[in-house]
Amino acid sequence: MPAAGAPHGLNHAKRWMIPRFCRTPAAGNLPSVEGVSLKLEETLFTAEEIRRRVEELSDLIRADYGGRDLHLVAMMKGSLFFAADIIRALGRRVTLGCLVASSYRERTVSEGNVELLTQGMGEVKGRHVLVVDDIVDTGYTLEKIREVLLAHEPATLKFAVFLDKVEMRKVAFDVDYVGYIIPPKWVVGYGLDCAEQYRELGSIRVIDPAGDENGI
Ligand code: IMP
Ligand code: MG
Repeated sequence: MPAAGAPHGLNHAKRWMIPRFCRTPAAGNLPSVEGVSLKLEETLFTAEEIRRRVEELSDLIRADYGGRDLHLVAMMKGSLFFAADIIRALGRRVTLGCLVASSYRERTVSEGNVELLTQGMGEVKGRHVLVVDDIVDTGYTLEKIREVLLAHEPATLKFAVFLDKVEMRKVAFDVDYVGYIIPPKWVVGYGLDCAEQYRELGSIRVIDPAGDENGI
């Protein structure tokens, strides 16, 4: 396991690729970071690729849990699309809760001071709990969730994440179900946003912090 602070030999100069603070743009304007507009760049995964991968993950999850009672906890807001697709693809009974984590907007970069709102997470004690999130970056968010949920004594606790920027990890965290490992770039679409923009895209796209025109 990589020690905290020395994750996977990452060159932390790449940190610039994460928006420092994504400001919500005025209507009609592009999202911007420190005044620089954000251009949509390459497509990493099309809607069809996403659909197929979600089905594969759901097959694994269905097989692993068998007939056991399953409580799914969706991380707001980025995992909304992924969680909904997983639930439909599972095609079995699940109960559903949600967690809200503090966003990058409240931090310069992800520094580990994650705050969680747990009111909507549902009954966890003694349950088989599967946390669903959109993306894991530093790992601080999932680490915090694990700590908080374990205190509620679930029977089992697992994590499903659609995207994994494994090179960016600052704390060791093993995810049980991963859609795709991606490079350390800021991505949007399929529920993921920058400044609340681009969640609606069916595909996963990279954002170019230096871009100055809309690439849709
Ligand atoms: P971590 O605590 O650094 O692992 O941050 C994970 C959270 O940051 C995710 O749940 C997302 O909300 C957000 N995030 C990290 N990278 C991206 C990205 O490329 N696009 C959109 N949101 C991201
Ligand atoms: Mg999130």
